[in-house]
Amino acid sequence: MKAQLEKIYSDAQSDIAKSTSINDLDEVRAKYLSRKGEFNEIKKNLKNLSDEDKRTVGALANEITKNLELALKAKHDEFYQTELNAKLQKERIDISLPGQFTPRGKVHPLTATTNEIVSILQSLGFSVVKNENSPEVETEYFNFDMLNIPSDHPARDVQDTFFTKLAPNVVLRSQTSGAQIHVMEEQKPPIRVISPGRVYRNENINARKNNFFHQIEGLYVDKNITFGDLKGVLNEFIRIYFGASRPTRFRSSFFPFTEPSAEVDVQCIMCGGKGCKTCSGTGWLEILGAGMVDPNVLKGVGIDPEVYTGFAFGMGVERLAMLKYAIDDIRLFFNNDVRFLKQF
Ligand code: PHE
Repeated sequence: MKAQLEKIYSDAQSDIAKSTSINDLDEVRAKYLSRKGEFNEIKKNLKNLSDEDKRTVGALANEITKNLELALKAKHDEFYQTELNAKLQKERIDISLPGQFTPRGKVHPLTATTNEIVSILQSLGFSVVKNENSPEVETEYFNFDMLNIPSDHPARDVQDTFFTKLAPNVVLRSQTSGAQIHVMEEQKPPIRVISPGRVYRNENINARKNNFFHQIEGLYVDKNITFGDLKGVLNEFIRIYFGASRPTRFRSSFFPFTEPSAEVDVQCIMCGGKGCKTCSGTGWLEILGAGMVDPNVLKGVGIDPEVYTGFAFGMGVERLAMLKYAIDDIRLFFNNDVRFLKQF
């Protein structure tokens, strides 16, 4: 029986030695040490032995069992460690790897330009009108009539207005100047407001013209406002927006709602004044129209032109953005080509 034990012991040892995983070890344990394992089968026969043999064989069986348990445990710990190391290696997190890329949204260049213009004008004392005083769908009353543009006036055609079928006299506004009327009907002087927004004109689309674009309207009405104030505010605006270096010119012009009127040009940034397709060969780009509020307009909204005077201006946001960022085609703002938008 002793010999049997020794034999099983050495079989078990060689099985342990041959094991390559924790799984293998579990099988070895089951084969030799479980309740139905080979040792238990032998221990069952102990009762047939003499007391003396029972003791020595029993002791030997116990010792072998103990040794096997130790050997299994040692091997188990070794496998556990290597398996753990392999797992850790496999699941290692490289904290130096870049994170997952999520593209970041940006402010559209026209929005950025609008924000910049608005904040410059705010710093000069103007405040932005309420949204309801600056609707894009407008009546002819605000877009034309009250701005001293009678129904047979060519200016209605000049601006290539989009008329709607919503109701008679409802148009997509062709200019932000209607905001002047909204404000003056609601509020008495002193008035110092600006109104940024989109306007629509039925134009042939090309590098310089789109059938909608953006304006920022300005209106200053108070006692003793003069053309000098107009020039002062607009020159200061241009100086802040462009820096002192870019030449500008005030050209005498005509608008039905201002008298006298002027158009302000900035030297073309694309050609430096030599003439190119952006400036239609003139070397200048018109950025705003302006003038002293016509007495008829003031009368219309119940403001006495003998007491109050004012100036108004309207600037083109696209023009100002094109000059700032050297963009040579207005259509780029509206194509939503990410390669273009990304640059800002
Ligand atoms: N509304 C004019 C335009 O769209 C610009 C302007 C505004 C001119 C205010 C004078 C005063 O051309």
